[in-house]
Amino acid sequence: MQPSSSSSMAIQVVSISTIIIISIFFRKYFIKKTTTNQPGLPPGPTPLPFIGCTIQMLLNRPTFRWIHKLMDHFNTPILCIKLGPSTHVIAVSSPNLACEFLRKQDVVFSSRPETLSTYLVSDGYKTTILSPNGNQWKKMRTILIHDVLAPPMHKWLQPTRDDEANHLLSYIYNQIEKKDTLTDGGLVNIRNTSQHYFGNLIRMMIFGTRFFGAGMEDGGPGEEETEHVASVFIILKYLYAFSISDFFPWLRGKTDFEGHQKIIGTAIQRVRKYQDPLIDERIQMWKDGVRKLKEDVLDVLINHESPKLTDQEIKAQILELMLAAIDNSSNAIEWAMAEMINDPTILKRAVAELDKEVGHNRLVEERDLPQLNYIKACIKEAFRLHPFAPFNIPHVSMRNTTVAGYFIPKGSHVLLSRPGLGRNPNAWTNPMRFDPDRHVDAKGKQVVLSDNDLRMLSFSTGRRGCPGVALGSTITTMMLARMVQGFSWELPQNESGVNLVENHDDLALAKPLVVIAKPRLPHYLYPKTENDEEDDRRQSQESLIDR
Ligand code: HEM
Ligand SMILES: *[C@@H]1O[C@H](CO)[C@@H](O)[C@H](O)[C@H]1NC(C)=O
Ligand SMILES: *[C@@H]1O[C@H](CO)[C@@H](O)[C@H](O)[C@H]1NC(C)=O
Ligand SMILES: *[C@@H]1O[C@H](CO)[C@@H](O)[C@H](O)[C@H]1NC(C)=O
Ligand SMILES: *[C@@H]1O[C@H](CO)[C@@H](O)[C@H](O)[C@H]1NC(C)=O
Repeated sequence: MQPSSSSSMAIQVVSISTIIIISIFFRKYFIKKTTTNQPGLPPGPTPLPFIGCTIQMLLNRPTFRWIHKLMDHFNTPILCIKLGPSTHVIAVSSPNLACEFLRKQDVVFSSRPETLSTYLVSDGYKTTILSPNGNQWKKMRTILIHDVLAPPMHKWLQPTRDDEANHLLSYIYNQIEKKDTLTDGGLVNIRNTSQHYFGNLIRMMIFGTRFFGAGMEDGGPGEEETEHVASVFIILKYLYAFSISDFFPWLRGKTDFEGHQKIIGTAIQRVRKYQDPLIDERIQMWKDGVRKLKEDVLDVLINHESPKLTDQEIKAQILELMLAAIDNSSNAIEWAMAEMINDPTILKRAVAELDKEVGHNRLVEERDLPQLNYIKACIKEAFRLHPFAPFNIPHVSMRNTTVAGYFIPKGSHVLLSRPGLGRNPNAWTNPMRFDPDRHVDAKGKQVVLSDNDLRMLSFSTGRRGCPGVALGSTITTMMLARMVQGFSWELPQNESGVNLVENHDDLALAKPLVVIAKPRLPHYLYPKTENDEEDDRRQSQESLIDR
């Protein structure tokens, strides 16, 4: 080895190290300088000027899977993606961080994004769920809380809910009987049955009628209800669909190259063509004095005083209530049934609970629900593991703020990941397992479907939290209880197990659940004709206090 080469090597080593040390020092100094004045954004892909990460988003549909992949890639429970020139989308998948947003800084994050689809659905933000923070949102939310969903109203509407719970049994029973195979059972499509159960229920509560048309003879939906419910689901699908114009607002209404605007516009029309004429007719009846008794939610909304609601407000709010009541509940029923049928020990325990708490001589009623902790735990487990939507409805920040050491600019869209919370291995042991027992308290404390600590997202929490917790919990639990008590459920003979695979584009079960039902109660207990029920309901409603 020559001395000269070794010394030049030493010089190289020294100079390289010096450069590294200096750059580290300056880097540190540089970063420190920026962080002391303003914390950085959460980690995420580097945005291009003006368009942000829009191209990547378009190349990676469905967007929710892309966002979850990025969170894995950056190994972070909070991610920032810039879309368009100015929108920061913040995705969150840990309960602690979720509480920072929706509990600690709830006030800051209590607005909603302004997008073309939400503008159209809410008819210019006349409603509650979709409206940004402001007086209109406050007004409509207050009316819903005090006059539609408050405990006295909940009680007032119980006969209506009971009626639908009876209708459910007779409808399934008729489907079996129709096939003349009572003992062999009949095939029941759980997706259709649950979607129409909640569709019927909300129509009954609002309009006092189950069917817009004549319905089917066996109690099933007619073509009007089929179109109505299908259109509600189309609206839900395109509501927060990461459309280009959500992030480039000046494109709104000018181009529609994804076709979202047309699809959602048509779906809104299809829902409204059944509802709006009924609303107009009813408003006229009150004006003419031919209707004097409040019998349903529509009557309550029409007669609301100070503030009085406009026809447009009533119509838009009713459309929004349809969206609120059908999706999450029907999806939970289908997944719960799928998981229970797939694991007969779970189904058996649910049946045993009903046999113990209610027995075989009468139908389960709403007053039994507090005792049905295992049934509720099954629903809660479906909410946890199989949410309908990948994200909570977006929350928008109303000013610049700092969360968990990160800068969150005003106008950011905060998306709480429902699978990120519910399937989070730090919050749940063995998270992918459907295990209702994890919600059952050994001391017998009542199971509730909400989770204010946001370890899962069922009804959310805070100023924007779901005001329909009581109603949503009651109707979902009641449907599962009736299904489990009223029938025994098994797979068709040619199938060995339920295929528990979710869709690629959303989180629904990929293939609608179709299973065999057999009656398991004495036959006289199954409610019979529609007409008898109709009479019962009228009688019980006539005896109600006029609110
Ligand atoms: C099992 C059924 C239901 C579930 C799981 C559910 C869940 C939710 C969730 C997660 C939100 C968003 C909360 C947030 O932004 O942080 C929400 C909002 C809302 N829900 Fe529900 N919901 C259900 C049933 C209902 C029902 C039956 C109604 C009324 C008829 C209702 C009315 C609303 C309203 C009005 C909002 C908007 C609140 C606001 O933005 O101020 N929900 N719900
Ligand atoms: C039942 O579901 C199938 C698809 O799963 C659908 O094509 C059909 O229209 C639904 N029927 C009703 C009555 O909603
Ligand atoms: C059901 O839950 C999802 C996710 O939290 C939400 O996006 C959807 O709008 C909810 N439905 C309502 C409004 O109740
Ligand atoms: C919010 O933060 C942005 C930087 O992203 C800044 O330009 C703006 O002035 C801030 N607004 C307020 C009100 O502090
Ligand atoms: C089982 O048979 C039914 C019709 O009886 C059919 O709809 C279903 O697709 C079959 N399932 C399998 C897995 O072959």
